Amino acid sequence: MTFSAGLRLTLTRGEFDALATIIRARLGIALAWEKASFVVGRLETYLLGKGIRSFQEYAEALESDSTGLLLGELADRISTNYTYFNREREHFDFFRNRALPEIVERAKAERDPYVRVWCAASSTGEEPYMLAMLLHDFFGQDYRRWDVGVLATDISDSALKTATRGQYDEEQIAALPPAFRARYFLPLPGARFEVRPEIRKDVLFRRLNLMSSAFRFKRLFDVIFCRNVMIYFDEVTRADLVRRLCTVLRPSGYLIVGHAEPLTQLERSGQGIPLQTVQTSVHRRRP
Ligand SMILES: C[S@@+](CC[C@H](N)C(=O)[O-])C[C@H]1O[C@@H](n2cnc3c(N)ncnc32)[C@H](O)[C@@H]1O
Repeated sequence: MTFSAGLRLTLTRGEFDALATIIRARLGIALAWEKASFVVGRLETYLLGKGIRSFQEYAEALESDSTGLLLGELADRISTNYTYFNREREHFDFFRNRALPEIVERAKAERDPYVRVWCAASSTGEEPYMLAMLLHDFFGQDYRRWDVGVLATDISDSALKTATRGQYDEEQIAALPPAFRARYFLPLPGARFEVRPEIRKDVLFRRLNLMSSAFRFKRLFDVIFCRNVMIYFDEVTRADLVRRLCTVLRPSGYLIVGHAEPLTQLERSGQGIPLQTVQTSVHRRRP
């Protein structure tokens, strides 16, 4: 059996299996054969635009692409970059009201005024900029006395480009408190808004595939946001990712995931996940 959406490219079972194997191994996304028409629909025009004439040729191109760019473009097509400022607001309230005061206590006790937050699937930037605004707001006048940084990573180059530009439509900032809109954005023509430079400079954007084996960072993170990306992963991939995230999370630090992807089952499964649930989708690394 073969699948074709626009009747210009066909996908054989063998080609689908080859592609599904790459997608599973490199993106963590498990696709069953029932998804064949979805795959064709999402990729056909893109592949033809790139001059790729068959799914076999595409699978070979993915295998030999050492830049990671093709993989990011594939992720753009089979998953979503959907996000907006203040999405799942309870997490930002938790960050502001519970995590940050605890970080201050820890930093004072250790005489180490260092705060690091990792936003691990940052898409077009709304989530990491939100975190940077909360840090600014929380520390106020003292902000410059602290060594504060937000690392924002994503697999998608196009999402990262939009993020770095830091310009958004009214719709994307609609859920922000009015005070934040006024304080942290510059109005642009055409009802668009640009994140102010003092916020942008504290967010470092980098391409990173969460499926790559080990994470290497100079210091541990106080808080990791990894939201609405694990939803695509199966249990094994999710467990492996959570375990690796814990290796770069400070003891007593927080891992915050999307509302639709709680880790409570994983914690109970006895798979050596050093986390405990604090509230829905907020998990603390055991001290
Ligand atoms: C739905 S967005 C989530 C954005 C934001 N975290 C939120 O919750 O609003 C999912 C993001 O995950 C990224 N992504 C998908 N697979 C990834 C992977 N293997 N490594 C890193 N990022 C990935 C996508 O490019 C996309 O930008």
